[in-house]
Amino acid sequence: MKNITGSPVTHGDFLESRRFLVDEMRDLVRTCSFTVVAPRRFGKTSVIKELKRQEDNKDKDRKEFNILFLELEGEETCNAFCLKLFNELMALYKIRKKMDMLGRFLGESWNAVASRFKSVDVMEMGLEIREKTREYDFVEWKEKIMPLIMGLNTFDKQTVIVFDEFPDMLLNFKMNATDSVEFKRVTDNLTGWLRSLRQVQDAGSKYRFVFCGSINLRMTLEDIGIGKRINDLEEFPIPSMKGDEAESLLRSLAEQYGITVEPDALDFMVSKIENGSPYYGQLLFKALRDTREKSFDLNTVEAIYDGMLRGGDNDLNHFHSRLVEYLSPLQKECSGIILKHMCHGSIQQKELYDLLLADKCDNSEFQAILKRLIYEGYLNRDIGKGGAIGFVSPVLRDWWACREGLK
Ligand SMILES: Nc1ncnc2c1ncn2[C@@H]1O[C@H](COP(=O)(O)OP(=O)(O)OP(=O)(O)O)[C@@H](O)[C@H]1O
Ligand SMILES: [Mg+2]
Repeated sequence: MKNITGSPVTHGDFLESRRFLVDEMRDLVRTCSFTVVAPRRFGKTSVIKELKRQEDNKDKDRKEFNILFLELEGEETCNAFCLKLFNELMALYKIRKKMDMLGRFLGESWNAVASRFKSVDVMEMGLEIREKTREYDFVEWKEKIMPLIMGLNTFDKQTVIVFDEFPDMLLNFKMNATDSVEFKRVTDNLTGWLRSLRQVQDAGSKYRFVFCGSINLRMTLEDIGIGKRINDLEEFPIPSMKGDEAESLLRSLAEQYGITVEPDALDFMVSKIENGSPYYGQLLFKALRDTREKSFDLNTVEAIYDGMLRGGDNDLNHFHSRLVEYLSPLQKECSGIILKHMCHGSIQQKELYDLLLADKCDNSEFQAILKRLIYEGYLNRDIGKGGAIGFVSPVLRDWWACREGLK
């Protein structure tokens, strides 16, 4: 498996011990639509992409799903979202040779276009669709997309429509909206419509939706009082790595690159990445590779680790830039206090509030900040320690401690 730190991983680069997640996801998508729930960098997109890769590689008779993967992080408006979804659906109709149905679904004005689309490539089709739909508003988009989705019930395979980074797209809507009322209206319209598409699903229906994103979708919608829009969705969690999984990640990478790590150095690395996501293992291993050495003892690994924390690692700094970008000044101040305190170890939520934050913000604001830090991938609750809250990964904790000058 290759050492990849950033983009989603699939196939031979997907950690063997996590393959069960792909099978579990396949089982779930047979029965319902769902959200993928995990903090940042836990491998959400990788599981979906690996499922898609496996399905795309099956031969026709064994193939069970057509998976449409929509990356939404860069979509700024509801219309842009609709255009993307429409394009993907059209491309699917084209590939599955169902273009003849389009005139019936989209109205006569699309008849000629649809038959010409049979012979143009998907790129060209996309350009023409953009031109033809330029003036559409949300009502018109719904009229066009709805029948295309219902039409999926006539396909022989099930269609899975994945919305990756859906909550990030909602944040873009928030930035672009004139005010909070406008943001709520747009989001409510969109999520309400998507819910209505799920409501007409019955046991035999042939399409499912998967919602995925760094920031928890539920939190984003609950914040604006429309959590009910996704109450029907099941949740698919991505777990953290236990110690043995962390070790197998490091061993697989070491084998791939012909690197030897002495047992006590390996134990040290495991202690820094267990209970977090594979991402931290990949980051730490990259720091080893960057030295161009081939064998490592404990002293060397400790020094490399220290250098990685202090060296302004870009992959780690990304965590901080999100806080700077998305939090209000009060939330930033409180987050700073919470994270600094966590550098000394985990703590119960109530104690944290009473001790450090009671005079800064009210309890509901405090809870919202905690939730946000959990879904930004900083903190988690340790069930083993009675739900105490601490850093997701020792790597992140040590990195933050360096930032604060505590190390
Ligand atoms: N199954 C896996 N095997 C090996 N490495 C993994 C696995 N899953 C995640 N990683 C590591 O984590 C990184 C991020 O993975 P991915 O993009 O799937 O996470 P994500 O949860 O979708 O992240 P984001 O919250 O930023 O969208 C990968 O580049 C890789 O370093
Ligand atoms: Mg992702």
